[in-house]
Amino acid sequence: MALPDEFFDQIRQANDIVTVMSGYARLKKAGRDYTCLCPFHSEKTPSCHVYTDSQSFYCFGCGLGGDVITFTRLTENLDYMGAVRLIAERSGIPVPEDGEDGEKAKAELRKRSRIYEMNKLAAKFFVNNLLSEEGKAGLAFLRERGLNDNTIRKYGLGYAADSWDSLKRHMNLHGYGDAEMIEASLLKQNERGNIYDMFRGRVMFPVIDRLKNIIAFSGRIVNDDGKSGKYVNSATTPVYTKGKHLFSINFAKNSKKDCVILCEGNMDAVTLNQAGFDNAVAILGTALTPEQVRNELRFYWEGKKAVIAYDCDKAGAKATEKTIGMLNQAGMSAKVLELRGAKDPDDYIKMFGAESFATLVDKSIPVISFKLNQFKENADTDTPEGRADYLRKAVEFLSEINNQYERRVYVSELAEDCKVSVDWIEEQIGAKRKSNRYFQQKDDRKALLKSTTKRDEINPDSNRFPAEVRAENGIIAFLFHSPDKLPLILRRLNPVDFPTVFNRKLFETLILRLTKRQSIDISSLGGEFSAEEVGRIKKVKIDNADLPFTDERLNDYINVLVELKQKANKKTSDEMTNEEALEYINKRVKRGG
Ligand code: CTP
Ligand code: MN
Repeated sequence: MALPDEFFDQIRQANDIVTVMSGYARLKKAGRDYTCLCPFHSEKTPSCHVYTDSQSFYCFGCGLGGDVITFTRLTENLDYMGAVRLIAERSGIPVPEDGEDGEKAKAELRKRSRIYEMNKLAAKFFVNNLLSEEGKAGLAFLRERGLNDNTIRKYGLGYAADSWDSLKRHMNLHGYGDAEMIEASLLKQNERGNIYDMFRGRVMFPVIDRLKNIIAFSGRIVNDDGKSGKYVNSATTPVYTKGKHLFSINFAKNSKKDCVILCEGNMDAVTLNQAGFDNAVAILGTALTPEQVRNELRFYWEGKKAVIAYDCDKAGAKATEKTIGMLNQAGMSAKVLELRGAKDPDDYIKMFGAESFATLVDKSIPVISFKLNQFKENADTDTPEGRADYLRKAVEFLSEINNQYERRVYVSELAEDCKVSVDWIEEQIGAKRKSNRYFQQKDDRKALLKSTTKRDEINPDSNRFPAEVRAENGIIAFLFHSPDKLPLILRRLNPVDFPTVFNRKLFETLILRLTKRQSIDISSLGGEFSAEEVGRIKKVKIDNADLPFTDERLNDYINVLVELKQKANKKTSDEMTNEEALEYINKRVKRGG
């Protein structure tokens, strides 16, 4: 990884961290810097900070942080060199030749763009099929489902012929090989080595991301024989990860409506769109994931609400409940659309029309009402036992609502529904809340205890050496701040005196780079450290930023480690000279440790 420092300066200058991160989170100004809800973990209040001066970010919630290169590694799922190349190419900066790693990264990016090309060509092929004799059945199916030509064109819907190799032949003619098409999930290979089209006899829904790339396909069977699944979706590929994308986001993101409608099926999203609900998205064959919430829903609808419009059955209700929890965790508010008399939104529009559906959206119910309805529906209210069960669950649930005004409204409704007095329910809730508080405090204490004894994944030794870790971190922060202190440190400490493996490696890396006069900027460390580790290093810098960089403090830190060394009274403790220390490190580096 011998790229020159000037190159890194250049790409960092061309890729302002604020601009880049704005594509993934809503940044809010905080003084000179910015904060946002973390793109990498679910939270309700912003703990991700973006520092304009140092062009870096750090999340105090999950510990990820670094510069624009680290950020790109995390969002694009690339390794260090891959991320470097991606942002260099994006900003039109030529990458100097850089050996094996660079070649590997180049190949990876090339593969990605080949898959985008293949998907585009395949989508065109499917569209042409649909409009040809071969696709008659597909077109008839879509028409029968009520889709007009405009919608079919808008979504780029197509048809994959009921053939084992029609796409394969077409793509081969255009110079695409079988291996790369298998990797793109357009072809499949069975155990006997036979290679065949992934999608056969299906109407094809291209999955398009917000940058308008076709990243995957979802195919619905036309002649349902009950044998081959109703839907087949692309597997995970270098450009598509299941559970990270939403169908129809490319349209919904531009909607002027003040909410997003979340449904289960592609067909639902398309039909809703045709009926004027351009804010509908579908989840594509998995349960909704936190990534979909953070990267798609919250990104476009932060501060607005999601209307959940899942199927009108037990599974749909269950999924709704899970979705509510997930949206809440990411700080998004939700409402639930109550479908009555139809199986799903697509069905509903066909039976009752768009206007009626619009009323349902307007009348979508708060999450609390949905929960109470569920308790009631799941209880046998024809029997006294069933009614008691419903009442008990409802009271338990209401006692968890902290806003007393809101609580009171639901208490009144429940009282009326169950024919008991408001006072009686309030009394139950009062007692419940008291005991809840007691258990909550106990849980909090337990959680606190657990968090302080939690295993440190990045530097697993840190629990064993709490004081030493603080000293190590301090010394490392000193090196970042004043590299000229290196000789002073090396006079009394060798890397072996760092008791924790992670900090030892970091210390060694810093010494090596400083003595070779290379940059020790965090972004240049990405070759040696993972994105998570870079986040940790960033944290060490932040934690120490406000402490005074005086020789006294540095000496205190060094003393802690020297004392440990003396205590251990290691045989190897005879002081190495600087040269010896360097030699030692070089050996370790050669050994790859
Ligand atoms: N799905 C899937 N794989 C399956 C079944 C369903 O990926 N084997 C996904 C598809 O994205 C589909 C959605 O789940 O759009 C809803 O499936 P389902 O409820 O079975 O759809 P239906 O409404 O029954 O089918 P359609 O409206 O397409 O006729
Ligand atoms: Mn349906």
